[in-house]
Amino acid sequence: MQRNKFLKVFGTVRRVRNSSTWWQNVEQGPPDPIMGVVEAFKKDKNPKKVNLSVGAYRTDEGKPYVLPCVRKAEALVIDKKLDKEYAPIQGIAEFNEQSAKLAFGSESYIIQHGFNATVQGLSGTGSLRMGAAFLASFFPGPKVVYLPNPTWANHTPIFKHSGLDLKTYKYYDPNSCSLDFCGMMEDISNIPQKSIILLHAIAHNPTGVDPSQEQWMEISEAIKKKNLLVFFDMAYQGFVSGDLDADAASVRLFIDECHPILLAQSFAKNMGLYGERAGAFTVITDSKEETARVLSQLKILIRAMYSNPPVHGARIVAEILKSPELTCQWKDELKGMADRIMAMRKKLKQGLEKEGSTRNWDHITNQRGMFCFTGLKPEQVKKLTAEFSIYLTMNGRISIAGVGSKNVDYLAHAIHQVSK
Ligand code: LMR
Repeated sequence: MQRNKFLKVFGTVRRVRNSSTWWQNVEQGPPDPIMGVVEAFKKDKNPKKVNLSVGAYRTDEGKPYVLPCVRKAEALVIDKKLDKEYAPIQGIAEFNEQSAKLAFGSESYIIQHGFNATVQGLSGTGSLRMGAAFLASFFPGPKVVYLPNPTWANHTPIFKHSGLDLKTYKYYDPNSCSLDFCGMMEDISNIPQKSIILLHAIAHNPTGVDPSQEQWMEISEAIKKKNLLVFFDMAYQGFVSGDLDADAASVRLFIDECHPILLAQSFAKNMGLYGERAGAFTVITDSKEETARVLSQLKILIRAMYSNPPVHGARIVAEILKSPELTCQWKDELKGMADRIMAMRKKLKQGLEKEGSTRNWDHITNQRGMFCFTGLKPEQVKKLTAEFSIYLTMNGRISIAGVGSKNVDYLAHAIHQVSK
């Protein structure tokens, strides 16, 4: 018979032990600034509730969207009745090759000459984390990463967790809700030689504010002068314009300008493969021989961290990218998502005007990608959630991808109520 091993102490059920627990000094951690909001949303019983926190695309009806090209590719993968053996440590070769071509262009000299050490990563986060681990082990300069202010909430923990120090450079001007280009250039000119700088390749998260192509050229020059190593985070290729090449322009410019970049790619947003964790990490090298050495060390890091990556999502991506028909379909569907987001930006702005808001909301349509950095203050965000069950991150970021025809007026009304 099982002994009763439980004891109620001050209303809390505890297991009975002779000594104190090992974990008594573990403090309760704060909820994640993005995923924690999703958890709160799920608990809300209000039928009008709206989740604009996490960046995940929704249909106009507010439903998760599996791209039809993904469904087709998945059916093709399943038809092949492939085995479930381990992938190679660096991931599926076809996936890595196609991911690099997508980023750098299929005709890129980088790929032709093997100047890319590309490995499969666990979506964007895992690819960044792999890059951070590589930098922590091998970067010969100061182990400090300069992040834009603000940046994606997860950048800080990813790099800190790898033991790298963090500093910031100016990026966003809250007064104009646009790029603080002068501030950015000034800060870059003050970064110590041979440091690491993180750049968002396209659709800056959380601000939706990107440099123009001319500004990218100036940024490239300034970075060259300081001999900085650029780590590009490209989580939204195709999501801004629907054009995969146009959205990779910053990365390709830096390649043309001979920067030895690092790159993290994600297929979460542009293929809607959020839960499949398909991504890639690339180190651009100076020779094939350097590529081989870098790759060998990446494999050692991967083996220690998670052994080898999951196969299913990567097989779907490879299936789409190697088929001209499926790629063509993907581009159409990508454009459809980008266009719907743009339409919602316009509707939200019009809705605010209709509500009688006298504030300038031009930034809603000027900003790009999945997010709008509304400019709402934390007290206004709290009010939106408490009074209207609208969930967003505390920095005032809303995922426009979560807005649809049915809730856009409600959202405009609520934003006006908390901001007038
Ligand atoms: C976001 O910023 O909401 C997305 O990139 C999802 C995430 O992992 O935070």
